[in-house]
Amino acid sequence: MLFACKKQAGPIERKVEKLLAKMSLQEKVGQMNQLNGHKAGENLYEKIRRGGVGSILNAEDPVQLNKIQKIAVEETRLGIPLIFARDVIHGYKTIFPIPLGQAASFNPDIVEKGARVAAIEASEAGIRWTFAPMMDISRDARWGRIAESFGEDSYLTERLAVAMVNGFQGEKLSDPTSIAACAKHFIGYGAAEGGRDYNSTHIADRQLRNVYMLPFEAAVKSGCASIMTSFSDNDGIPASGNEYLLRQVLRNEWKFDGITVSDWESVKEMINHGFCQDAKEAAFKAVKAGLDMEMVSSCYNEHLVELIETGKISEELINEPVRNILRLKFRLGLFERPYLDTASVKKTYSKAHLQLAQRTAEESFVLLKNENNILPLSISKIRKLAVIGPMADAPHDQLGTWSFDGDKQYTQTPLSALKGMYDDAGFQILYAPGVAYSRDKSKSLFAQALAVAKQADAIVVFVGEEAILSGEAHSLADLNLQGAQSDLINELEKANKPLISVVMAGRPLTIYNEIQLSDAVLYAWHPGTMGGPAIANMLFGKTVPSGKLPVTFPKITGQIPIYYNHNHTGRPPTRNETLIDDIPLEAKQSSLGCSSYYLDAAFDPLFPFGYGLSYTSFKYSDLSLSSDVLGRSDTLEVNFSLTNTGNYDAKETAQLYTSDLFASIARPVKELQVFEKIFLKTGETRKIRLRLPIQQLAFWDINMNKSVEPGKFRLSVGGSSEDGLIAFFNVK
Ligand code: GLC
Repeated sequence: MLFACKKQAGPIERKVEKLLAKMSLQEKVGQMNQLNGHKAGENLYEKIRRGGVGSILNAEDPVQLNKIQKIAVEETRLGIPLIFARDVIHGYKTIFPIPLGQAASFNPDIVEKGARVAAIEASEAGIRWTFAPMMDISRDARWGRIAESFGEDSYLTERLAVAMVNGFQGEKLSDPTSIAACAKHFIGYGAAEGGRDYNSTHIADRQLRNVYMLPFEAAVKSGCASIMTSFSDNDGIPASGNEYLLRQVLRNEWKFDGITVSDWESVKEMINHGFCQDAKEAAFKAVKAGLDMEMVSSCYNEHLVELIETGKISEELINEPVRNILRLKFRLGLFERPYLDTASVKKTYSKAHLQLAQRTAEESFVLLKNENNILPLSISKIRKLAVIGPMADAPHDQLGTWSFDGDKQYTQTPLSALKGMYDDAGFQILYAPGVAYSRDKSKSLFAQALAVAKQADAIVVFVGEEAILSGEAHSLADLNLQGAQSDLINELEKANKPLISVVMAGRPLTIYNEIQLSDAVLYAWHPGTMGGPAIANMLFGKTVPSGKLPVTFPKITGQIPIYYNHNHTGRPPTRNETLIDDIPLEAKQSSLGCSSYYLDAAFDPLFPFGYGLSYTSFKYSDLSLSSDVLGRSDTLEVNFSLTNTGNYDAKETAQLYTSDLFASIARPVKELQVFEKIFLKTGETRKIRLRLPIQQLAFWDINMNKSVEPGKFRLSVGGSSEDGLIAFFNVK
């Protein structure tokens, strides 16, 4: 059944219909193809001349791109312009922190600003369509693409995804600096079994609705121009052939009028899935499911015309995708302005862009430990600072995954920033890599590092992951630091100097031992072009950490999947269970108690979702609710006082969680509903009011209806997902 949602006929719709009526079948099918422009050549030019291409991805050279566009506009029968696409995931040239790091900022405004900068820089290069924001809920740090996600929580992901869509798309898509956003990967890709990329997912429809679809629905409602189907099969159905997702949910329920694009060759890969016999069946199932554009593979180009001419599918099944594609091209203003002005002044790498990238990095860092307030360092006390580790001066790796276009020569590393920080003659930076790169197993550089450490007043060791170790297809079965990095920290600790570890990685790592050995630990993710000055400023207190974890950190990999908004189970852990070393000999079968925990790892994570320290401290007090009985259409006002009780002006992200205590299905132990990042001067107290519309408590219930069920709710307000100030309220 074809679920078409007819658009009200505005000027663009009239243009779409008028152009569609002129198009041949081959020209229509041509629009449904996106080809790889990386190696554009005569073959590609010929395909374009035949009207066989609708979009090009990875055309990197603006001059080349205009050349290709000229063929499409001036050498084809109807002159339909191409859309040029690229993965502009966390910056184009100026690279921002990886999305997981941006999520730690809990700052939608700065995320939106960063996407705006990326759009300005990418559109200057002729790119008008990015394949971002990636909004896969990620609960498994073995999955390398957690780096591209906003973490494990649907609400945080939703807020940041919408911010990124708005940043990319600007006020209106026809603005020359606007680029079409792409909500990906639809859907559930982050639940790949075992954290092994491209693996199957088994997500029940209710869980899809209550967890994975929420950010996509919000992105669609915010006007996101496109959606990308995931490589993965959910419950046996590959997303690129899933009619329920692409028609029933996207078109029929959400009234999405943008375009759906497959992932790279994911249409053809439905053969590998065993879901299709051959390319013809892949074309048939994808177009029947409602997939508008095929990325790189050519099942559509090779078989759609035949499928129509032999009556296997109706031409209307092609018309709808072509309408969606033409509509986006009109909205982008491509018919009026198909060419890039290659002579205009470039804003790429402007001072303003670099400053924003630095500020975003600063807001993304999470202070995990700060024993005896060893941080911030003081220049008066630290005359010699040992800077050690493979990530101290790693301009390429600091940019993180999906940073194709970032030029590493612009990267400012921690070493370069620290060296340039003070011109105080007595202040010295002593550098030694310790290991040559994150996977380096050799200890041949240890002696030099230890010699440097012995001379210094304090040690900052930069460890983590090379950029290639996270991102697509880069799953890890063990999240311990690679190579000899842990051994290096073990040795450095013996120098008996203040030891600060800075971790640059694309995912949570199991750094239990490093946490024990270090006096302070700052998690910097992959911080991008300006990560160095951002870290240097923070180490010396010019800025104060304000990041909060967007993802739970496991103690050991075996605890995964581990996330804060899990269900209670019938036997919730008491958190003081007997651990393996304390079990008496010949212990009786059920003597240890029967609850949901690990004998060798207990239940608790290393650090919980929403956790992050500051150089100052905050006190939450005087919690009060506007009412403790509310109707479904009411808004609960949660009032409390927040005090900066320490010695630094700083920002705190206050978080409000609710627990639906009894419902028609088992509900998560708690869910983030509201957060607000608040700046307080030292000693300042402010009355804070957080608003929670009761409608926000709706979920897909036992009958698969989205509803707010009456009942008792528990509420917690604090600086992490661990319990803070508690109150209760009832929904009538
Ligand atoms: C990749 C990724 C997708 C990306 C696309 C184009 O395989 O899965 O996220 O946008 O191909 O590069």
